[in-house]
This record gives sequence, structure tokens and C-alpha cells, in this order.
Amino acid sequence: MEETEQPLDFQALPKIELHAHLSGSISRECLHEVWVQKRERGETTLEDPLIVMPQGKFDYNLETFFPLFSKYIYALCNDIPSLTYTTTSVLEAFHADGVVYLELRTTPRAIPSANLTSEDYVRTILSCIAAFNTTHTSMRTSLLLSIDRRHSLPTALAIVSLASTLRTSGVVGIDLCGDPSVGEISSLVPAFHAARAQGLPCTLHFAEAPQSSSPEELQTLLSFAPERLGHVIHVPEDVRGEIERRKLGLELCLSCNVHAGMVVGGFGEHHFGWWWRRGCPIALSTDDVGVFGSSLSNEYALVAKHFGLNRRDICELARSPIEAIFGSEEDKNWLRKRMWV
Ligand code: IMP
Ligand code: ZN
Repeated sequence: MEETEQPLDFQALPKIELHAHLSGSISRECLHEVWVQKRERGETTLEDPLIVMPQGKFDYNLETFFPLFSKYIYALCNDIPSLTYTTTSVLEAFHADGVVYLELRTTPRAIPSANLTSEDYVRTILSCIAAFNTTHTSMRTSLLLSIDRRHSLPTALAIVSLASTLRTSGVVGIDLCGDPSVGEISSLVPAFHAARAQGLPCTLHFAEAPQSSSPEELQTLLSFAPERLGHVIHVPEDVRGEIERRKLGLELCLSCNVHAGMVVGGFGEHHFGWWWRRGCPIALSTDDVGVFGSSLSNEYALVAKHFGLNRRDICELARSPIEAIFGSEEDKNWLRKRMWV
């Protein structure tokens, strides 16, 4: 910060969040509230979320992180009331943090115990988003559907088809996510070609761990012609050059990367420093604020502190993802007017 400047209120700064997984964005307090309700109704034998995920614990690594969902959060958020309650709570938290444009993402999942298909699941989330957009007009939210690396090709194709069907209801694109240590990306190629053929924009978790950063995998992922990439950690120089040449939008998640031990050297050594002002739009993002505990305004504060960005730099950074959103031209114009110069 320059000494003559007023300290920047990062919460008041209008911000764009492009990389937030719905189930990973639910706060522990919210999970606890759902658990209390279910326990009172005799609907759960799960342990209290505040014991499973103690307050102040943010050091989940790639081994402990993914089972949190498959073994716990999905078992708790498993019917329409819990999905509605947690989704609305996530939207409220982003809104309260000064987010003005949010692209939330989620992996469609069927919940047979509640008689829900994966389409029912997505439609439930979309109704929460539509209701919130109506009542909170200072923030616009849309949805990306995630393909998990472990999905079979038929499942991935079904997600692309669902995204296409729901485009007029708030779905704006496709994501590739999931445990980077598992899954064979090449089997999913036809799904991303289908997304491309249907004009659905894509963002991909890219070079997130050494196991998912082989030259073959990175070339395959780039062959999907993605508009944006998430994480971009273990990226060799030639691939970095290609990303720069294509001016791909980069979703950088500092706290997630540092807390999960995905990068070495802490915040000051994060590759944000390398990408800043290279010509690619950068969207600072939270990834999983419920797990890693850092709000988007805190991500901006961290960047200001560790990379010496002044007020003008921060405002430039906050506006930088406008061109990389998957929303409409009208959304972009709305953001250009709303965000500080
Ligand atoms: P959901 O898609 O809303 O159910 O959010 C949770 C899911 O997001 C997890 O099961 C993961 O597949 C995915 N996810 C969350 N964070 C990450 C990440 O950092 N890397 C890859 N996948 C992630
Ligand atoms: Zn992610």
C-alpha cells in the first residue's frame, strides 16, 4: 500500500468470483445448523460438522480434502431442504463479502434416498439462484456444471447435455474438477468436444498437482480449447507461453493452494506474482471457502500485502475478470459500470 492512500476496504470493493465449488463453499456453521435440524428429526447419525471440521482447521491437503465430500458433506446435504438451505447460505455469504458477480459451480449428483435425479439436483440449485438474483439485485449469480475426473464418458456427456438444456435457466458453462491424483482425462475428450460443439464455454482445473501435470495431460486439456483455467500450478515454460498467447482467464486460489500445501514458499512465492500483468485476465478466487476459510476479500488483502499492490492495482485486478466471465455482454456492461475504476 502507498502510505498516502486510505486503506482499502476489501469487503466494500466490488468483486467477481469465478471459481467457487458449491459444496466446498458451505460454512461449518451452516453445516452444523443443517445437522442440528436433521438430528432433531432423527434423520442423521452423522457426527457434528464442528467435530468433523473443527473451527480454525484449514490445513486440508489433497488426501484429506476429497473424502470430506464423498464421506461427509454429501451425506448431510442430501435432500431438497438441506440443498436449498446451504445454497442460499452460500449465496448470502458471497453477497455479504461484496461479491457482485458469482459463477458458482457444482457437480450434478443424483440422490436416490431423496428420490432426486441429477437433473433435479441442478434444478434445485438453479431455483435458489433465481430466487436470490431476484431479491438481491446487487449480485448476479450463474452456474457452471462440473464434470469430475472420475466420471465415465456417458456421465460426462449427460452433464454436457444437461448444461445445454439448462442454458436458459442459468447454466453458463462446464468445469472439469475432481481429485487430480485419479482419473484418465483422455476418456473424457468427446464430452469436451460436445461442449465445444454446443458453444458451452469451459474452465478446467489445470496442473493442480504433479500427478495431473504430465505434458500429455496438459496438451489434451488445451486441446479442449478452454476459455479459462484454474490453479495453473505445475506449468512448464512452453505451456505458460501458450496460455499467455491465448490470453486465457486464470482462476488463482491463493489460500487453497497454500493451506493445502499445493505450492511451496507460502503466499509471497505464489505464482500469482508470475502471472500478474502478463496479459491474462486473473480472477482471484476462493475455491472452497467453507474448507479453507478465506473469503474473497481476504484473498485481495493477501495479494495487496504479499505482492505490494496499491489501491489502483487492486481495482485493476478486481476488474480484470470481466472479460473472462461466461455471462452475457449485458452482464459485462453491467460490471464495467459497477466496478470502481
Ligand atoms: P460440488 O461440486 O458442489 O459437490 O463441490 C465439491 C466438489 O468440488 C468436490 O467433490 C471436488 O470434486 C470438487 N473440488 C472442490 N475443490 C476442488 C479442487 O481444489 N480441485 C479439484 N476439485 C475440487
Ligand atoms: Zn477448484
